[in-house]
Amino acid sequence: MSEATHIVAIDGPAGAGKSTCAKRVAKALGFAFLDTGAMYRAATWWALHQGISLEDPDALSESTRRMELDIHESDSGQRVVVNGQDVTQAIRTPEVTRLIYKLDQNSAVRRHLVELQRRFGERAPTVAEGRDIGTVVFPKARCKIYLDASIEARAQRRALELEAKGMTVDRNTLAAEIHERDEQSKNRKDSPLRKAEDALLVDTTHMTQDEVVAEIVRLARERL
Ligand code: DC
Repeated sequence: MSEATHIVAIDGPAGAGKSTCAKRVAKALGFAFLDTGAMYRAATWWALHQGISLEDPDALSESTRRMELDIHESDSGQRVVVNGQDVTQAIRTPEVTRLIYKLDQNSAVRRHLVELQRRFGERAPTVAEGRDIGTVVFPKARCKIYLDASIEARAQRRALELEAKGMTVDRNTLAAEIHERDEQSKNRKDSPLRKAEDALLVDTTHMTQDEVVAEIVRLARERL
């Protein structure tokens, strides 16, 4: 039942602000939060950690099925644990980010992770964010949002995040990387990134985070 009635599905390209906003929306509504990107990241980290060839589709799907994945909230925010090891930081490295496409284009890997995502959504009212939530994972969700922003705005936000961590970054390189990930997500055969027909488009290019959160909470209350 929760599949249709108590799911807020948020999709969109990298850097549109999905994760931070979805987390805050979940808190405001008292819903659970599901970061599906973290699941593709965890599966990629796990394959690399085991030394599995990323060119072997069967081995990747087998390793994903064997992965014991635990994503939970803690005092210090969301923790991601794979087979007993805390990989919260490790799944965010540039290496993992660069190699995820090897798994997220694998249909058997996707089928397994989508199954886990649906089970999560059945347990509690959920705000889920990713690339295929409104189109594939929860097609009956009553509240679907597609978050987008210009490449320049997304590169600028990412640059500020990295600079806050003391890293030096080149905005043009970041914009090129974001463009490449957009192309990979939008052009893959299985579950390409696209706005579901019944999703509401929220363009965050000129919006503050507070405004985006308020808008999604308003839409969710209206629709659920
Ligand atoms: O949102 P993120 O950057 O953490 O996602 C990491 C990658 O996972 C992203 O490049 C695309 C993929 N992904 C996906 O294919 N389907 C999802 N539902 C979520 C993420």
